[in-house]
Amino acid sequence: MSSSTLVRGGLVVTASDETHADVLVEDGRVAALAAAGTPAAAALTADRVIDATGKYVVPGGVDAHTHMEMPFGGTQASDTFETGTRAAAWGGTTTIVDFAIQTPGRSLREGLDAWHAKAEGVCAVDYAFHMIVSDVREETLAEMDLLVAEGVTSFKQFMAYPGVFYSDDGRILRAMQRAAGNGGLIMMHAENGIAIDVLVEQALARGDTDPRHHGEVRKALLEAEATHRAIRLAEVAGAPLYVVHVSAREALDELVRARDRGLPVFGETCPQYLFLTADRLADPGFEGAKYVCSTPLRPQEHQDALWRGLRTDDLQVVSTDHCPFCFAGQKELGRDDFSRIPNGMPGVENRMDLLHQAVVEGRITRRRWIEIACAAPARMFGLYPRKGTLAPGSDADLVVYDPRAEHVVSARTHHMNVDYSPYEGRRLTGRAETVLSRGEPVVTAGRYTGRPGHGVYLPRSTCQYLA
Ligand code: URP
Ligand code: ZN
Ligand code: ZN
Ligand code: ZN
Repeated sequence: MSSSTLVRGGLVVTASDETHADVLVEDGRVAALAAAGTPAAAALTADRVIDATGKYVVPGGVDAHTHMEMPFGGTQASDTFETGTRAAAWGGTTTIVDFAIQTPGRSLREGLDAWHAKAEGVCAVDYAFHMIVSDVREETLAEMDLLVAEGVTSFKQFMAYPGVFYSDDGRILRAMQRAAGNGGLIMMHAENGIAIDVLVEQALARGDTDPRHHGEVRKALLEAEATHRAIRLAEVAGAPLYVVHVSAREALDELVRARDRGLPVFGETCPQYLFLTADRLADPGFEGAKYVCSTPLRPQEHQDALWRGLRTDDLQVVSTDHCPFCFAGQKELGRDDFSRIPNGMPGVENRMDLLHQAVVEGRITRRRWIEIACAAPARMFGLYPRKGTLAPGSDADLVVYDPRAEHVVSARTHHMNVDYSPYEGRRLTGRAETVLSRGEPVVTAGRYTGRPGHGVYLPRSTCQYLA
């Protein structure tokens, strides 16, 4: 079915420009942009017109780090691909990149097939996959080449979680060498998991079992040490590196040093580290468990450093690491032992609004908002300019964003399948009013109009930050 839509009267904001322009959408793509008031704009016609007067018109968000239905600690993340991508759409995010997982002893292919089966036919918005490599063998390395060729161009490794996802330095080096040859991008969970496990054991032996100790044992220095080691290993391998969920100032310092030396080293942080601090882990009544994720929340001074890193482009991307577990029945698994609390927090619905709040508060510019939430993740993971911008030929993943709409974040009104919000009660200014995914309205003037199965799988090219 061919159709056209004209989005008229808004301020079009991309990572590079802000222009009052009308946007013509045809057959799921951006067909034209015309500066407001020009003859070219007057000549645009379409089947349907969306009035964006007084609103921003921005690219749909690209959340490059989600974990729908992720198995962890004997349970699994509470959002399915269906519920999680619907919540993403509500929040103005139209692309997610989730993590397929290799089971140790099995092939990458089996893991990837399993994740395709979970996502196929149920997503509300488009999706792609990274691959978690938890067992580096000769066959695994050969499979990495095949995956890159078919559009799974990034691989996550873990220096944390011994016995689960953990890789030692030799396995990391081998995967990095392979990535250096095939164009893949290694994403690193940089925490010294071996040392952390010693501190966990010692804390539990002392009777320090409550959630607060999760933050204490996962020390900033151990994030920094692992970040440093990952950078050196990548340098030896001649591979680029993307460090996920950076939360410690000392880890950011390592990225800054590497980037100052000209290395292709990139960093991601997440809204939880930008808007929440470690004292939440001490919330009474085991409520601190709601804030357990790894890397952990940190004291205020780390947050200030992360904001600075976003302004100086030492951090390039803000993703959510959306990995929700309900307080009831899931977070509660760790009532007597913080190390049994499933790690992760929800946020896929909140990211665009939280980052817009940073615009409202003068921490970042509007264009930087779009850069870190849309354009940079699309470029980093080979989806640009199909995703992450509004240009002729781009997918018409477009958000009419009301910068003045006030709302209060709450689990009572959010659409993620999780029984709490880490941002409960927070007042935000700005929200997605209408959201198009490849030209189809998935949210229309604040009403959900999407459907499961609209979202398609996106094979990706290699990292475009290196070209
Ligand atoms: O606590 C977290 N981040 N859970 C998700 C898995 C990961 O390490 O990204
Ligand atoms: Zn991680
Ligand atoms: Zn994650
Ligand atoms: Zn809201």
